[in-house]
Amino acid sequence: MASASSTAPRVTEGAPQTVAHGVAPLRTGQGTSFLLRRLHSLTGIVPVGAFLFEHILISNSTAISGPEAYARQVSFLANLPLVFLLELFGIWLPIAFHALYGFYIWYRGDGNTIAYPWSGNWMYTVQRWTGGIAFAYILWHTWTMRFTGVDLHAHPEMSFGKVRGEVFRTPLFLFYVAGLIAASWHFAYGIWLFCAKWGIVSGERARKRFLAVCLGLFFVLTGAGLASLTSFRSHPQQPADPGTAVMNR
Ligand code: HEM
Repeated sequence: MASASSTAPRVTEGAPQTVAHGVAPLRTGQGTSFLLRRLHSLTGIVPVGAFLFEHILISNSTAISGPEAYARQVSFLANLPLVFLLELFGIWLPIAFHALYGFYIWYRGDGNTIAYPWSGNWMYTVQRWTGGIAFAYILWHTWTMRFTGVDLHAHPEMSFGKVRGEVFRTPLFLFYVAGLIAASWHFAYGIWLFCAKWGIVSGERARKRFLAVCLGLFFVLTGAGLASLTSFRSHPQQPADPGTAVMNR
């Protein structure tokens, strides 16, 4: 007869079960590939996070100055050399990798839950759900803004009106707000996670202070995004005539 000890699940790994504070550093041999895990972590900052920062704080903030300023910014971006390749390799593929690998990490439920700070692992859960909400939002937003309706690369002068048409529909406006808050939180807290995992910020005091900085970034991103969204609703509609030669300035 088999003994109880031979049928019980064997714990073969010496899991660090007593870690109460801080974030587990990225190490080799922790289940998933070290390289992919590092790449996931890095792409969250560059280029995906850098793009999010630019998109909210620079490009979309120009909407606060009105339709013409916004159209000039869209025109500038649309006329960057090799813009399609820049989008493909600088934005879409890195986001696809970070998101799909992020879902894989989520699905696997990698056993680093106790390494996230604060009891209840709230932050661990929130980091995953904000990623999921941001993913749904990014898919929809890219589809509607880049691939359907008026082609804004060909008609940047219509860009303010195109966004305006969406944010006046309350469910879509709320989806914009949810996507903005989710992406801003995910990125801001992600910077903190990144710096803890890569050993850039170490020590409890330094991490606490840096957390305040990251929270500040979350409020700055969210505030700027909300200000842009509001300005789409408060400015009068731009002239429908594409002849308002914005592109030639
Ligand atoms: C708005 C676009 C996004 C940005 C700017 C972004 C950025 C980041 C950053 C900076 C980190 C911290 C890196 C680290 O943990 O070392 C991170 C972590 C993470 N991201 Fe994203 N992310 C985005 C979208 C997504 C999406 C769509 C998912 C899909 C669920 C996702 C899933 C995750 C997961 C699971 C983690 C935590 C990994 C861990 O705990 O080890 N992210 N993200």
